[in-house]
Order: sequence, then C-alpha cells, then structure tokens
Amino acid sequence: MTSTATTVGTFHFSNCLMNAAGIHCYTRKELADIDASMAGSFVTKTGTLNERAGNPEPRYFDTDLGSINSMGLPNLGIDYYLEYVTELEKNPDNKPHFLSLVGLSPDETHLILKKVQDSDYQGLVELNLSCPNVPGKPQIAYDFEATEKLLSEAFSYYTKPLGVKLPPYFDIVHFDQAAAIFNQFPLVFVNCVNSIGNGLVISDETVVIKPKDGFGGIGGDYIKPTALANVHAFYKRLNPSIKIIGTGGVKTGRDAFEHILCGASMVQVGTALHQEGVAIFERITNELKAIMAEKGYETIEDFRGQLKTL
Ligand code: DHB
Repeated sequence: MTSTATTVGTFHFSNCLMNAAGIHCYTRKELADIDASMAGSFVTKTGTLNERAGNPEPRYFDTDLGSINSMGLPNLGIDYYLEYVTELEKNPDNKPHFLSLVGLSPDETHLILKKVQDSDYQGLVELNLSCPNVPGKPQIAYDFEATEKLLSEAFSYYTKPLGVKLPPYFDIVHFDQAAAIFNQFPLVFVNCVNSIGNGLVISDETVVIKPKDGFGGIGGDYIKPTALANVHAFYKRLNPSIKIIGTGGVKTGRDAFEHILCGASMVQVGTALHQEGVAIFERITNELKAIMAEKGYETIEDFRGQLKTL
C-alpha cells in the first residue's frame, strides 16, 4: 500500500498535499472546500490584526507559465480565521490545520501571536515573514537582524507550535545566515518558498495588474527550480526537528515528488490550485502515488531528502 501520509511536529496528516497560503483560503467556505477534498490540511489566508481590503484590482493574473499577484494582504482579520480553526479543532476526527498570520509591524505581530497564545487553539501557526506586496513594508525575512529580533521576542512568550513562511533566497551565504538564525529557535517547520517578489508581466505594451505599477509576486512554473533549491538548502542546514514544507511550482505528482526528494515533509499547491480548483489534490496525489509505486517507495520517508548529486 502506497501512502502519502506525513508528520510535522506532533501533527499527523493523511496526505502531504495542501493549499499554499493565499489560494482558496479567504472564507470559511473556501477553507471547507479544501477540507472536504483529498488535501491533508489547509492553511488560512494570512490574517492581520484587523480586516483589510487589500490593493486595487486587477491584482492577480494567470499566465501560461504561472501567475503574478499583488493582493496586498486582503483578509478577514485574525479573529475570523482563529475562530474557525479553533472550532474545527474541537472535533478530534478533523484534520489538523495551519493558521497563517503576520502584523503590519513587529508590535502588531506580537499582539496577534499573544492572542493565539491566549486562545484555545493548540494547532500549527505559520508566521508569514515574506509578504512582498504591501507598499512601504519590506519583506521581514530579507532583513536578518529584524528576523532574529522578531523570533527571539516571539519565543519569549509563545509556547505553541510555530513555523515560518520564507521568501526565496538566491545566495549560498544567505542560506547559511538564514539557517543559522532559524536553528536558534524551537521552530516546528519552515515553509520554502513564497512567491519570487516584485516580478513584472507585460501583455502587449501594458502591465497586467494594477498595484505597484504592475510589480508583483511570481508563482507557478517560473519558480520551481528556485523553490527546490531553497527546500534542499534548508533541509541540509536545519536541525532535523525543523521540518520543511515545500511550496513553489507544484502542479503534478512529479513536482511534488521532487519537493519531497529535496527534503519536504509537506507540499503546498498555489498557482496550480488557483488555475485548476480543489480537484487538483486528487490528481496530484494519484500521480505521486503512481511514481512511488513504480519506484517501490511505500511512504514518503522512503525517499524524503534522498536527492542524489553527481
Ligand atoms: C500577500 C502575498 C504574499 O505572498 C503573502 O505572503 C502574503 C500576502 C498578498 O499580497 O496578499
């Protein structure tokens, strides 16, 4: 029997595939759709302290090779998502979930994390250090000093399972420096990668999205090699207790297989989920199982991280 089950921290998932934050996760209805699908879990839209409308539309655009977006953190506010995952958690038969969050300032992030700490929710939290689309707010994870300070303050009071969503890094020294910071903390996971920030897609003579003169985060096929490199770089550098979630360019079972080979314990689907809908989880799961069966792998632990070099 081939199984795609997996574990992150103390949480067990019957399937390693799930949505990437931002895709199909804005309302309870969308989250419930994912829950009812073959996905092993869902992550909520990144919640801020207060509800936000986000950037002006059009703010998301699909291309043949992926997508560009500058959503600007539209969300229904942390209480909306925290209440939903807490409600679901009360039934022990439900899947475990991920609550994504970040503040618009370090103070706001701490206010939100303290809310979660003081709540009944015992599940996983993904602290988003990599939103590229709020004008005037740089990505936290590209500022190593700010990242270390934020995590060190957060872990002074936060005792529940916490992981971080990272942007892609592009330099070996940055992999080393970032990993040295994350290894100081009891993180349960790191999620590699968020979109490649501030790309530009043009149609005829014009940009395709309105915010930031067309600049936006790139996802889909364009980013798979960068995503795989980040997954593998952190898999090699982080304490084995910090699991890797692989995100970026996943639309087939082969893509998911490659992320796991690079070290991912869970694999998220973003752009392709937007393009294909929640039925994609069944297709990718079946394709992944077929590859595993052909190679004689029964569980993802049989090949996770076993990427060969020349
Ligand atoms: C948004 C985009 C991101 O990549 C992210 O991590 C958080 C928010 C957004 O534009 O809404």
